[in-house]
Amino acid sequence: MQEQYAKNLKKCADGRKIRAKIYTYAKKSKDFLRTRARRESFSTKKQLPRSAFWAIIIESMETMIMSGDEAIALGAKIVGEGGIVAFPTETVYGLGADAFNAAAVQKIYRAKGRPSDNPLIVHISRESQLDGLVAEVTPAAKAAMAAFMPGPITLILPKSSAVPDIVSAGLSTVGIRMPSHPIARKFIDACKTPIAAPSANASKHVSPTSAAHVFADLQGRIPLIIDGGECEVGIESTILDLSVPVPTILRPGAITAEMIAEVLGGVQTFEGKVMVAKAPGMKYTHYAPKCGAIVAADADAAREEYLKRAADGESWVVLARDKDCAALDGVRTLPLGGDDAQVCRNVYAALRYAETRFDGILFVDLGDKGVCGSVMNRVNKSAGGRKVFSSKK
Ligand code: TXA
Ligand code: MG
Repeated sequence: MQEQYAKNLKKCADGRKIRAKIYTYAKKSKDFLRTRARRESFSTKKQLPRSAFWAIIIESMETMIMSGDEAIALGAKIVGEGGIVAFPTETVYGLGADAFNAAAVQKIYRAKGRPSDNPLIVHISRESQLDGLVAEVTPAAKAAMAAFMPGPITLILPKSSAVPDIVSAGLSTVGIRMPSHPIARKFIDACKTPIAAPSANASKHVSPTSAAHVFADLQGRIPLIIDGGECEVGIESTILDLSVPVPTILRPGAITAEMIAEVLGGVQTFEGKVMVAKAPGMKYTHYAPKCGAIVAADADAAREEYLKRAADGESWVVLARDKDCAALDGVRTLPLGGDDAQVCRNVYAALRYAETRFDGILFVDLGDKGVCGSVMNRVNKSAGGRKVFSSKK
């Protein structure tokens, strides 16, 4: 019991809001019989009773899921008080805090279990918020903003010294994103400050595209999820580095290289091995499903691998476009949609669904055209590069 007490005191020292359930134990009983339980709130660690005969169980906070203006107002209040709130964007849900409040931003890292050298991107709702965030808005940045913002893109720009180091993880640049989702914009407006936010998943898990996904990962760790339904795009924003001589895509997304090249005249993709992390997130293990995962070159390859696995007594599922699924009779499938946008929107929900129900996921290759290339960028990493081909070819 003393051990539990010490552990929980440490949690308080970590700066958690302290709401404790205190059990009083009878001194005489050998097994420390519980005689009374009560719940109290403490604002500081010092206020906690220190007797060895108290066992203090720190309660996790309740996570509310709310929607509408009421949710936005409450979210803004929480952010104003230095708290963190999950909110919808058109790409994936974010977990936000006041970008200028280092202690609040620290809570994001803690709630997600995110390594502190992986910087956050800063979300704005209007261009005027760029003052105080970036050192300069280059002509290329102006052109990219005019073409793609608001929308699913993040621009890496030289940062202003006002941005706390914890946001940029000590880099001299900062990622700026202006989401197009009306709730995200209303929320940022109501907060009256730029919002630092990573995706609202537990670190290393797939990004959340619904309030339920956020709840599954962060329940008890954050006070509020603003529910905006399912995210329209479904994968994270394109990250475009404009702090280097040649504009460079660090993470592909719905805004594709072709679209950017049309506006900026040229763009390159970052393929290098990550030693000094360019997008620091790149150096961490990518999301790997809780079950097996393999990319199949086409529907035939998926069928062959599926049947092989079934013969071994394993239960796999095929994730593919609707038309590929229709061709796979006798195979358990999870259709992702008819067009590219639908596939992109559904892919993370399908991965989350499948990973807890099956021994493995077979993902039929979507090709590299447009947004499908960006989806496959995530899927190939989840499969750890494993790919199967049909024996017929
Ligand atoms: O769509 C999105 O971008 C979502 C929504 C919530 O806006 N956010 C998101 O954040 O995906 P996060 O933290 O999960 O991914 C952001 C990536 C990380 O890999 C991080 O390393 C990289 O952006 N990043 C952030 N600041 C950077 C910087 N200054 N230079 C290079 N990469 C940066
Ligand atoms: Mg993320």
